[in-house]
Amino acid sequence: MRLSDREKAMLDGAEGPARQRAMDLLVRYGRALGAERLIPVTNVAGVWSSTTPWVQADLDKPDDFDTIYSRFNLDADDVVETPQAAVSTCQLIHGIDTRNYRLQGFSDEQAALQRKSEKYFGQRGVQWCSTCTPYQVGNVPVKGEHLAWMESSAVVYANAVLGARTNVEGRESAGAASITGLIPEFGLHIDANRYATHRVRVEAVPESMMDWGLMGYSVGAMVMENIPVLSGALPQPRPMHLKHFGAAAASSGGVEMYHIPGQTAEADSEDEALGGRVPVEEHVYDAAARRAAFERLNANANNPDVDFVMLGCPHNSIEQMWEIARLLDGKRISPNVELWVHTPRQIRALCDESGFTEMIERSGAHVMSDSCPAINRATPDGTEVIVTDSCKQSHYLPAILGKQTWFGSLEHCIEAALTGRFKGSL
Ligand code: F3S
Repeated sequence: MRLSDREKAMLDGAEGPARQRAMDLLVRYGRALGAERLIPVTNVAGVWSSTTPWVQADLDKPDDFDTIYSRFNLDADDVVETPQAAVSTCQLIHGIDTRNYRLQGFSDEQAALQRKSEKYFGQRGVQWCSTCTPYQVGNVPVKGEHLAWMESSAVVYANAVLGARTNVEGRESAGAASITGLIPEFGLHIDANRYATHRVRVEAVPESMMDWGLMGYSVGAMVMENIPVLSGALPQPRPMHLKHFGAAAASSGGVEMYHIPGQTAEADSEDEALGGRVPVEEHVYDAAARRAAFERLNANANNPDVDFVMLGCPHNSIEQMWEIARLLDGKRISPNVELWVHTPRQIRALCDESGFTEMIERSGAHVMSDSCPAINRATPDGTEVIVTDSCKQSHYLPAILGKQTWFGSLEHCIEAALTGRFKGSL
């Protein structure tokens, strides 16, 4: 790899031991990827949380944050002091809701450790957005900006919808990028790698939130890790529709970038999306593909008596929270069901101020932040049958928790929460 004089000096330790370890990691990472150089990044979204059991496993002291940082954010053999972030840096989703941790089965001590870790890393520049959707809480990069982001649903949103540039990073590379402002130049940082290679003709035009999720889930399975361009007369989406579409496509496939000409950031026409080339594969998303996606998502459930309803994957926007508040207003959920509604902590604060939290929690539901069951494996005691409006959560929960999981629309999920029975259908 070609390194600048400043990068060489950092690698030699001129800017301290942490940045030396970070440069060493980035150079090894870049060589493995075949990158020729490092490029500047201005925005990092990663993980600094310190309370998960596997992070805590070998520590003498649970609040030994420098050891956690050295091991898990720098992949270093020794312990170095955590420096301040060099570029804008935020924490993604993590394991403990600092308000509703008892519902998740965590102790007061674990919640206190979480808060202590937030302050420790916060005073070194980490913004505790604590969500998989930092773009919903003010972290909105601009077109062309190079990032180092983890979290597949956030990465595909940043690339496709915003036109920013990032690959799916890991905890270590994001940690190293945060204190150096650098990442290897490869993958989606490079113009030539951002064009569509696969075309999907949309015949089953999405009308609802569930439809956008089903289309994403189907398209992801068609193209896997490649870049699709959708063709056909698609309706104008809201941000939440593209959030669900991308999260679903990143789950069933490994989609990190897509184009909807005239709607996403980098193409006004199919030809522009394809970079003037002929697609290597053509697919059709029609009524049969939509039905197949719905059936695949519901394939592992057969008991309609549900005990846990999970909403908010990816984390809900404020407009989704209002929709849920409206649907629950004046109603009471079944005594046999727990309903958790997930949203970023900043949006929960807005819900508190706006009275939405009260409307939702009067029904017996809980507004949750900072986490989700796929990340922290926490569900209400005795959970056996889950229902969710998220393709991503429905894709992962059966494997992660070994529980039956139904997928349905928001209305199906609310009905299941109120009655205790899932009656979803297309
Ligand atoms: Fe976010 Fe968890 Fe879904 S991290 S995208 S709510 S699986």
